[in-house]
Order: sequence, then structure tokens, then C-alpha cells
Amino acid sequence: MNRPPSSFLDTLRARLPLVTVISQRVRLTRRGREYTGLCPFHSEKTPSFTVSEEKGFFYCFGCGAHGDVISFIMQADGLSFSDAVKHLSQAAGLKSTLYSNYDYSIKTSTEYSDLLDVMEMATRFYEKQLRLPTGKNGLEYLYNRGLNDEIIAAFRLGFAPPGNAGSTTLKREGINETLLVEGGLLIHPKNGGSPYDTFRDRVIFPITDIRGRVIAFGGRTLGTAQPKYLNSVATPLFRKGDVLYGLAQARSPALEKGTVLVTEGYMDVIALAGAGFSHTVAQLGTVLTEGQLAVLWRLAPEPILCFDGDTAGRLASIRTAQRILSLLKPGLSVRFALLPEEKDPDTLIRTEGASAMAEILSRATPLFEEVWQNLIKDHQLDTPEQLAGLEQAIKSLTSRIVNLTVRQYYQILLHERHRVLLRKMARGLGPLPNHNKKHVRLTGSIPQMKAMADRVFTAFLLTHPQVLMCHIEQVAELLAGNTALSHLIENAATVLAASPDIDGASLISILKRDCQEIAMIGLERDLHSALQRQCQDPEGDYQRMLLALYDQALTREIERMQTMLTIDPSPETWQRLQILQKERNQIHDNKIMPPLS
Ligand code: GTP
Ligand code: MN
Repeated sequence: MNRPPSSFLDTLRARLPLVTVISQRVRLTRRGREYTGLCPFHSEKTPSFTVSEEKGFFYCFGCGAHGDVISFIMQADGLSFSDAVKHLSQAAGLKSTLYSNYDYSIKTSTEYSDLLDVMEMATRFYEKQLRLPTGKNGLEYLYNRGLNDEIIAAFRLGFAPPGNAGSTTLKREGINETLLVEGGLLIHPKNGGSPYDTFRDRVIFPITDIRGRVIAFGGRTLGTAQPKYLNSVATPLFRKGDVLYGLAQARSPALEKGTVLVTEGYMDVIALAGAGFSHTVAQLGTVLTEGQLAVLWRLAPEPILCFDGDTAGRLASIRTAQRILSLLKPGLSVRFALLPEEKDPDTLIRTEGASAMAEILSRATPLFEEVWQNLIKDHQLDTPEQLAGLEQAIKSLTSRIVNLTVRQYYQILLHERHRVLLRKMARGLGPLPNHNKKHVRLTGSIPQMKAMADRVFTAFLLTHPQVLMCHIEQVAELLAGNTALSHLIENAATVLAASPDIDGASLISILKRDCQEIAMIGLERDLHSALQRQCQDPEGDYQRMLLALYDQALTREIERMQTMLTIDPSPETWQRLQILQKERNQIHDNKIMPPLS
């Protein structure tokens, strides 16, 4: 087969801007750095056909048609490779003598549809082998990895027998050798030896385009043969950087769920799909490319990238984060899910189940957070010089963000975080207000504390019905969050309305008779100790309890603000925190009464 040298094709491509050629047949509209229009290769109403002059490449997100200027002409005009080159050469004004050495009368077989047919036939062959005695080891291997027949069928897994059985069968079915070579199924050794099958004695993972048409294969060894995974070479159908494994199956679940998971390997996709995470693709051992990211962003605004929990995974996540910065657009980002040590999604699901995976996904960090953590990880931040170093790093990092709007927000938020560190350092150098004041440390979890305080408060009120009467509205408000206690207080109020002079013990026995809540919410012990206690100044006690409750609420709010300050270090949050702290100190100094009632 004769092909013009690649230098000739490069000249051709350089002389004929892709947009110029395509816009003779498709009405294109500029959108950012790309052009879009209605795809000429399938019928559609909204444009999903994009052309990037920069990359010299077109891609249709609807049907997966893609390629350069030559393959566009081949597909649009139904020409063979050589005819397309001839046609374009004339259009480019390149002299025919430049390529007259090449014999175009031999019909090359780069026709996409022919190649797709070959891939489909090969897929069926591999699928069939898996169910024959020759494929026994392959099938056993898949079963041992936890796959069932349904999932094997869904991903069309197969088995390539040892030797050249694949190509022999396909040739017998009428496929010529040229097509097998172009499809990456057959290899002609450079030294002229006899051709041999690419995939031998391997489990086969068909790789499809977005429409589910097989365009390449991955083959995994059953044993220790190297490489562990073998992928098809680049072919007219298969450009590794643009393909995501599992995309066809993941597409509609991802659109439905509004999110898509990106893993590192074939088996991760399959294991996740089996565990209910059908919105998963894999990136085929490459770093995430711009083309892949564009496809992912069509499916979801924030794809979740899952990285294996090893050093390589950690490093890959940092590299990916830095790469993606330059590609960010308003509204589009990624999240990072880092798996536990030495685990990939496949092993995690098999050892700890789907819920462990769900848990990790729910904690996936936004890109921004990942970027910040990577920034401060390498910086000691105890001196002004080190803070200056961090500021420098922030500047150089944000300068990578091409989109100005996104860059601006990264700058603002990273500088705010930087300022928080600055303030922390300033605090270390001179005492902050309130810094040395002692205050009661809450022990136990905050919700528990709150529930306990509410119970003590309620028990006190029920044993002092007249105090309750006096402050019934305030009490209702204070306990509004606690349904059981509120209900109890409501009932007490009804009893009190009928008999205003009732004493605590009688009120409680009526309530015990009428309401189940007392036993259910464990109030009995609190009631018992409240009844035991001799109380000289019920009104004073009420005020002190109120103060304690208010203090607790303040503490909760202060802790919330402190957390918020690390997330959103705005001056407003800072101010509010200071007001709250001042107020709490005043309570501790007995200077104010709660601002209630
Ligand atoms: P299993 O051992 O089958 O579970 O595979 P894995 O996915 O856990 O393997 P690993 O984490 O080593 O690799 C992740 C992905 O990288 C694989 O799914 C392949 O796509 C790719 N990959 C792994 N090893 C090779 C290799 O030897 N050659 C090539 N070309 N790709 C590989
Ligand atoms: Mn694995």
C-alpha cells in the first residue's frame, strides 16, 4: 500500500485550514476557540459537531465522527483516502508531481465503515471464543474477578485465543489483510517475518466510540505476560487521547445522574458498573487529555476523577489538577476522589462493598480545594518570608488559568486563604482579644450536649409550673427544635390553663398519665432529680439556665464560624465571630442577660 509521506500530508493540512474546508459544507458558528454546527454525518437539530482549527480536528459529540481534514472529505464525500488526498491537493494548489510517485490506483482501505465492520466482526469472534473450550481460562479468569454473564455481555468481553486464530477466521470470512492491519488486529513485523495477531491469549475488552461502535481493543494477560494490558495501536478509528473506555454505556446514566466518574482502568469501570455505578468511564492509562475532558464536560459539569490510593495515583492527581487549570471554564470543573491506600475502585468494591465507594465519592474534593492543599503542603508557613513564597506560588499557579473569569475567582479565593494564614501568624505574634480568657470547654458532642441541656431545662420547668406559666412563650421558642419536649410543654400548658395553681408533682403525674413522651425521651431521671432539689429562687434559677443555654448556643455558633472562617475567610465572618466571642465573654463575666424575651 502506497501512502504519501507524512510531510506531504502536513503541507496539505497546513494549506487547507480545516474550518475553510468544512464550512463549504457545514454552516459553522464560532464558539470560543472552536466552531460548532449541525453534524453532516447524522441528523440533528442542535449542533454537536465541533471543529478546532488549533488542533486541526473535528469531533461530533452526537455520533462520534471525528478526524482531520482528509478524513472529513473521505467521510463527507464518500471518497477513499487516495481520492480525498487528490481532491484536497488540487484544492490546495499542490503540484501533482509532488505526489505522482504514489500509486493511488491501489484502493486503500481506510474507509471508516469497512474498518468498523472489521472491528465488529472481531468483537463477535472474541465474544464467541470466550464461550468455547478455548476460552475456558478466560471465562474462569473473569468469573474469578467477580464478573457475571450479564456484565460480561454488557461490556462485550471476549477472549483472543493463542496463535493467529483471530486473523485466520476473519480472513476466511472475507476480510483482506490490509484491513486487519489498518484496524490494528494484525502486525506485519518490520523485519519481514510472517504477520501475527496483535491479541493472543488475552481477555479482550472492546473499546467503543460514544455510539457503542467498537473502534479498538484492550487485551489483558491472564498470567504474568508483559505488558499486562495491551491496547490497539492508533488507527484511523482510534486516537487514544480522545477515547474514554465505557463511554457508550456510561453516557445516559451520567446525563441522568448529572455526574460522571473517571477511573484509571478497564476493570474499575466494569466493577463499578456491576455495583450500580453505571456512570463510569476510564482513561486508558493516559493522563486526562483536553479532548477527553471536553467529552466529560458534555456529560456533567464536575466529573469526579478517581485516583488509585498509591503514590502513582497521588502524583497523577496533582499533575491532573495542574493540567486542568488551564482548561477551566466558568461553571466547569472536576472533583477528586482519592482511594484508600493500595486500593483501586475495583478492589475497594470487592473488599469493602459499594457503600465504601459511595462514601469516598461523597467526600470528593473540589479542584479548588485540591489546588489549595497542594499549595500549602509544601510550604512551612511560620515566617513572613514563607508567606511571601506562598503568595508567589499562588500567583504563578493562577496565571495558568486561561479563562479570565475563572482565574479571577481563583485569585480572590486563594488570596483570602492566604490572608487567613497571615492573620493566624499575626495572632501568634501579639495576643488577640479574648485570647487568654478561660471558658468552659464543652465535652461530648454538641448535639448531645444540647439535648441534655434541653431535658434538664424542661424538667426544671415542669417541677416549677408557675415559672413555666410566666415564660411559656419564650420556653416554646427555645425548645422549638425538639419535637418531643415541645409537645410535652404544650400539654403542660393545657393542664396549667385549667388549674393554674397546680404544684410540680401533680402536674408531672398528670403528664405521665396522659403522655408517653416522658418515658420515651428519658426525662424521668431529670424530673426525679429536679423534684429532689430544694430550690430557693426559681425565677433566678430560670434566668441562670437561660443564660447557660444561650452560652451553649453561642459556643455552637462560634465553632461554626471558626470552621467557616477556614472555608470562607471573609471580613464579615471574621467580624461576626468577634461579636459572638465578645458576647460570650460578657456572659462569663455576668455582665449581660440573654437578649431573649
Ligand atoms: P487489573 O490488574 O486488571 O485490576 O488492572 P488495573 O486496572 O488495576 O491495573 P493498573 O492500575 O495497573 O492500570 C490501570 C490502567 O492502565 C489499565 O486498566 C490499563 O488501561 C492501563 N495499563 C495498565 N498496565 C498497562 C500496560 O502494561 N500497558 C498499557 N498500554 N496500559 C496499561
Ligand atoms: Mn485493579
